[in-house]
Amino acid sequence: MGGGRSKRRGPKDLSSTVLLDRRALWTENAVPGTTVYGESLRRFSGREHRRWDPNRSKLGAAMLRTQADPAELLPEQGTSVLYLGAGHGTSVSHLYDHVCGEQNRLGGRLVCVDLAPRCLRELTHMATNRPGLVPVLGDARKHDAWGVLLPRKVNWLFQDVAQAGQVDMFVRACRRFLSVNGQGLLSLKAASERWTGEGEAALFAGVEQHLLEAGFQVEESIELTGYEDNHRLYHVTMLEA
Ligand SMILES: C[S@@+](CC[C@H](N)C(=O)[O-])C[C@H]1O[C@@H](n2cnc3c(N)ncnc32)[C@H](O)[C@@H]1O
Repeated sequence: MGGGRSKRRGPKDLSSTVLLDRRALWTENAVPGTTVYGESLRRFSGREHRRWDPNRSKLGAAMLRTQADPAELLPEQGTSVLYLGAGHGTSVSHLYDHVCGEQNRLGGRLVCVDLAPRCLRELTHMATNRPGLVPVLGDARKHDAWGVLLPRKVNWLFQDVAQAGQVDMFVRACRRFLSVNGQGLLSLKAASERWTGEGEAALFAGVEQHLLEAGFQVEESIELTGYEDNHRLYHVTMLEA
């Protein structure tokens, strides 16, 4: 007889450094013994991991909400990536664990831009023991000021600036920095967009149309409500330069 009770499955590897344990994401801590924002630490197979809090990270929330394989939202390990609107570095710290690992053993590079000096202070502090993390004090719209840090196009670009004009800003940044077939992730805060009076669903549909017309394939539009209300994360592939 079947018995009916499901067996507890072990954690699923999303990469060699990111685990999904039931409904919780964990990244292997690149700086063992330390936390970045008070997150829990736990050992899996003898290696220390940090819990990735989906209420504090839209990328983490999107990975738990996606209908696809959550690993598809992550960049390849050991590659160069661009993150616009790094904030205090919550998501950046987990991305670092994945892209670079301890002492950057994976050889990645994570360029993160933010225009708030207080965020840069925290990111710069984080970078002291995370080689390969490159904090930039700058405006995500002013590519010429910091674009020299990215001599080659990247395969993964994330934007979370929560400011008006965020879709155009994302499209421009992708055209300049993202390679053809590269993956772009746009975290969109509805309240930051011009309000047409037609409601949030129409606004989100309009954004999707804008991305299609700009030459992207929209892989998924991920609803983040519950983790981050009035937010959606668009996962796109860049089809043409
Ligand atoms: C919602 S927070 C980012 C949170 C972060 N992505 C995370 O998950 O941990 C938005 C950030 O975008 C930054 N920002 C807003 N406009 C920007 C711009 N034009 N260029 C660069 N950063 C910008 C703000 O300073 C703020 O730190």
